[in-house]
Amino acid sequence: MSAFQHAGCFEVAAPFFAIRPELPGDVAAREALLDAAMGPGRTRKSSEALRRGRLPAHGLSLAAIAADSALVGTVRLWEIAAGTRGGAPVPALLLGPLAVDPGQHGAGIGGALMRHAIAEAARLGHGAILLVGDPEYYGRFGFSAAATGALAMPGPFEQRRLLALELQVGALAGATGRITATGRLQGNGALLEAAA
Ligand SMILES: CC(C)(COP(=O)(O)OP(=O)(O)OC[C@H]1O[C@@H](n2cnc3c(N)ncnc32)[C@H](O)[C@@H]1OP(=O)(O)O)[C@@H](O)C(=O)NCCC(=O)NCCS
Repeated sequence: MSAFQHAGCFEVAAPFFAIRPELPGDVAAREALLDAAMGPGRTRKSSEALRRGRLPAHGLSLAAIAADSALVGTVRLWEIAAGTRGGAPVPALLLGPLAVDPGQHGAGIGGALMRHAIAEAARLGHGAILLVGDPEYYGRFGFSAAATGALAMPGPFEQRRLLALELQVGALAGATGRITATGRLQGNGALLEAAA
């Protein structure tokens, strides 16, 4: 017990970051943070195949901003089909990448981003969130592999790390097959899609 606690006082840390929607001006800082936190191999992940050329789901790109305005955390969610059920695609979200400035790990930024992202996805009416990650970390937010056993990523993946959280009971019931990207296309693709 510290001398501070002995004196009958409790330290209350002032919040040193805030979470807000990502802005266009955040992109360079976000990409630098992802390189620093995840290394250059990050673009070879199977999840990246579901994000490449797509825009994140509306309202679900979040940034953690420190008191000095530095971007210290990022998370985005993407529209996918979690396989099919009865021949119809099962709508869901793919979460990732989640990353925090390596100098700020363990301060609660990742957890705050996760809780904010889950709450926003639920508020916007989404039924389920999937991700590929460590169950030892994501389990604390309610993610598990219980509903993903019949689902597959479009590239190499470990089944134990393919996790899901249902925001609506039964959203993933009976979902089977390959996960595919369904989000809005970036750039020219978005224009072509709008014209089709
Ligand atoms: C994973 C990450 C986002 C967590 O951010 P953070 O701000 O440090 O997270 P929090 O402060 O909210 O939580 C820290 C806790 O998570 C634990 N944790 C972090 N990564 C973990 C992992 N892969 N497996 C198990 N526990 C993990 C820490 O040990 C710590 O535990 P404690 O609360 O018992 O002390 C951050 O470590 C990061 O950016 N890592 C590199 C990018 C990455 O690997 N992202 C995907 C993760 S699968």
